[in-house]
Amino acid sequence: MTDIVLRVDHLNGGYAGHTVLRDLSFELRAGEILALLGPNGAGKTTTLMTVAGFLPAISGSVEMLGHPTRKNSPHQLARLGLGYVPDDRALFRSLTVRENLKVAKHGGGTLELALEYFPELRKRLDITAGSLSGGEQQMLVIARALVSRPKILMIDELSMGLAPAIVAKVLPVLRRISDDMKTAIVLVEQHVQQALTIADHAIVLVHGDVRVSAPGDVLRRDPTQLERAYLGQSVDPELTQHAQTQDTQTQDAKTQDTKTQDAQEVPA
Ligand SMILES: Nc1ncnc2c1ncn2[C@@H]1O[C@H](COP(=O)(O)OP(=O)(O)OP(=O)(O)O)[C@@H](O)[C@H]1O
Ligand SMILES: [Mg+2]
Repeated sequence: MTDIVLRVDHLNGGYAGHTVLRDLSFELRAGEILALLGPNGAGKTTTLMTVAGFLPAISGSVEMLGHPTRKNSPHQLARLGLGYVPDDRALFRSLTVRENLKVAKHGGGTLELALEYFPELRKRLDITAGSLSGGEQQMLVIARALVSRPKILMIDELSMGLAPAIVAKVLPVLRRISDDMKTAIVLVEQHVQQALTIADHAIVLVHGDVRVSAPGDVLRRDPTQLERAYLGQSVDPELTQHAQTQDTQTQDAKTQDTKTQDAQEVPA
């Protein structure tokens, strides 16, 4: 059974020798949505960039669509099937919506596909991206990533600066994309409860440690556990058992530094 599109194994990440993310492991299958949650500064963006291969890992490995990410440039990863939506909504503000979508079109991609999921943009095609509302800009950013029909879509802070009503509108679209096209999605999100409405699985990072790794429905049933995780308090062991390494993580936490040194360094 190899519909696993993303395999992250004992990943440590950070900046210039400063470890920000510790011992993250998970697997993601085609059509699944993983919500990556945690308070400000927890390491979510660092994690996403390391998993995508844009930031060299300190140790551990990532296999994306059967390829180790450290052997691929960001451009190669995009060609392989990774769509990456950074948290800065880097649109070409003076270009029209249509032009922004066309710029994203590689090979066999199609604007129609993106517009099918975000029909609001259809009537805005000829106005500049800079004059869209915040919600429309975020739709355009995701639509742009969809144009090349990614197999994996990573989205950092989908809801930043958006009204909850807009977030509530966009999240189900992601679920539909994932269901229809079997796109695997990694979603970094501050609106925890809303993210859980669409997530198959959620990981909560606190200070770079995996505090929770559990199915979305389990977390939906007991939101107090998430609050405890955010506050750094102990959580129900059931919520950590789904991280493959979680059972050993607790025992190994004290030896983490040694493990990190032993693991193979990834060249920058
Ligand atoms: N370029 C960088 N160089 C050095 N340290 C960094 C860099 N970017 C982030 N950090 C540090 O790494 C830690 C995690 O930051 P990161 O941005 O990954 O967290 P985050 O969970 O995405 O936070 P937020 O919710 O605010 O977006 C923080 O302590 C931050 O100061
Ligand atoms: Mg961030």
